Amino acid sequence: MEIVIRPDYDGLSDTACSIVRAELARKPDLVLGLATGRTPLGLYERLRKSGDSFAKVRFFDLDEFYGLGPSHPDSFQHFLRTRFLDPVGAAPGNVRLLRGDVADLEAEARDYEEAIRGAGGIDLQILGIGRNGHIGFNEPGSSLGSRTRPKTLTPEVLAHYVRDIDPLSRMTSFALTMGVGTIMEARKLLMLACGPEKADIVRQFVEGPITAEVPASMLQLHRSAVVVLDEAAAAGLKRRDYYKWVFENKWRVGQK
Ligand code: GLP
Repeated sequence: MEIVIRPDYDGLSDTACSIVRAELARKPDLVLGLATGRTPLGLYERLRKSGDSFAKVRFFDLDEFYGLGPSHPDSFQHFLRTRFLDPVGAAPGNVRLLRGDVADLEAEARDYEEAIRGAGGIDLQILGIGRNGHIGFNEPGSSLGSRTRPKTLTPEVLAHYVRDIDPLSRMTSFALTMGVGTIMEARKLLMLACGPEKADIVRQFVEGPITAEVPASMLQLHRSAVVVLDEAAAAGLKRRDYYKWVFENKWRVGQK
């Protein structure tokens, strides 16, 4: 895992943007996995303004609330379409996002996995992290080998993410999410975390043991995972100075 620590959120977003643009320059028909949440908004804004063409990019996403259709304002699909996909002119035929409003969630999950395979796998998966260590909606205790499937959400997560829906309703208790195993098959992972409320979980998943109690800790086993943090989210890391030194000096490798 490469750990990159930037001074603030703007720096984090700039670095994340450079990483995505480098992948896009390498492969214009990139298969890109998107994440929702507040953290990648700065990245999406920069990508929108970059002028790069996303016409050939194939898009997937991480997760979706059960019961919410694409036009529901709280759906992740609505979020991604309005904040990113529509503004960058994503081709409709290249977008396959999870649907939370289907009758058969298991069938949707199987179809989704098939679509990822059909696209040749995900080249770059963007990730955020929940304060409890979840990636996608893989809550603590999720199998580290799991595939796309329905999941039951924790009350804390619901309270945090669903504003306007009755918390007792069945539709708020479930989600569909890419599995940890599915995420791990992406060729490159780009995890973003910012703010002091993420410092404790960042310390756990970067420097703690690999455990299903912290699903993000599985990134330690990935061959190409980059974690971009701001100073606040990196504050609990024991080897913070070392990661900074590596980032500033890695260009020296191979130089005389
Ligand atoms: C949510 C989503 C994730 C997201 C994460 C972080 O619950 N399921 O896909 O990456 O939590 O959200 P935020 O960036 O708002 O902290």
